[in-house]
Amino acid sequence: MAKSKPIILSAMRPTGELHLGHYFSVLKNWVKLQNSYRCFYMIADLHALTTFENTAQIKNNGVKMAALWLAAGLDPKKSTIFVQSEIPEHSELAIILGMISPLSLLELNPTYKEMKEEHPKSNTLGLLAYPVLQAADILLYKAERVPIGKDQEPHLELARELARRFNRRFSPKGGTNGEIFKEPAALFEKTPKIMSLQNPAKKMSKSADENSYISLLDSPEKIRHKIKRAVTDSSREIKSSAQKPALSNLIALYRLASDKSVKEIEKKFKGLGYKEFKEELAEEIIGFLTPLQKRYQKLMENPAKIREILENGSKTAQKIAHQTLQEAKKAIGI
Ligand code: TRP
Repeated sequence: MAKSKPIILSAMRPTGELHLGHYFSVLKNWVKLQNSYRCFYMIADLHALTTFENTAQIKNNGVKMAALWLAAGLDPKKSTIFVQSEIPEHSELAIILGMISPLSLLELNPTYKEMKEEHPKSNTLGLLAYPVLQAADILLYKAERVPIGKDQEPHLELARELARRFNRRFSPKGGTNGEIFKEPAALFEKTPKIMSLQNPAKKMSKSADENSYISLLDSPEKIRHKIKRAVTDSSREIKSSAQKPALSNLIALYRLASDKSVKEIEKKFKGLGYKEFKEELAEEIIGFLTPLQKRYQKLMENPAKIREILENGSKTAQKIAHQTLQEAKKAIGI
């Protein structure tokens, strides 16, 4: 954890279960990044309030999600794993950044536009200000890199814009070192995109029908059932191609779960059909998830230990967040 490592911050909302898409597209990469960056990984529970109806579950979901992160390989000795709402500095900086966030910019945000259409009841100030809070998350730690998916790009763009506006307006004059906030850059890594088992045009998502995703905690029976029902393309051959997005997605899952190359997989199933392929795919996924599930269950035998990890992470994070917020307030003059 050398001081000189560049800082990374990323987060997930604790809205429920994690699925294979989260694992292969996000978590696996987070685990890898721990070795070359100073990483902050946050449970974005305040962000979850924008759409969360059952708030009684939020805390528990956060603990479960942290256990899944740990089971997937996040290491609290290497990374700071913490809870957003345990650090009031996030909310305070969000209020301050709100003062320099033009409404017209926030209203243009594509996620906001989509969400207010989909959930008219959630069209709140909190939803509109979602990316302002996200900017606070990032700027408090002076994160240089933010590993995110393409869908989060407009949010990061706003964080950059707010850092620039704040610096221009309030940073002490004279020299570049006087800048309070660092402009964060996205870290787009080449991680695989896992699509829905029911519709290969859509990303795997837990908000869709249960058969469209495989939860990291699904039982072997469930996994067999879901793979059996996964949509395929009209052809017999097991071959990955752009014309066959559903089959290609399943082949990608096979590759990731088994560590075999696409070529090896195609060769293995030459002359065989979907039935054999799907049966073996289910077993590969089960084989892949079983050790992760065992680690998860072991961790969940002692949830107090997970809460302790989160509390320690929040303490470490708060020291930095507090210092940055003080600098920002001083620069403003309050
Ligand atoms: N908005 C992100 C998501 O929905 C979660 C998030 C909150 C986040 N704060 C962040 C991501 C800061 C990166 C950095 O996935």
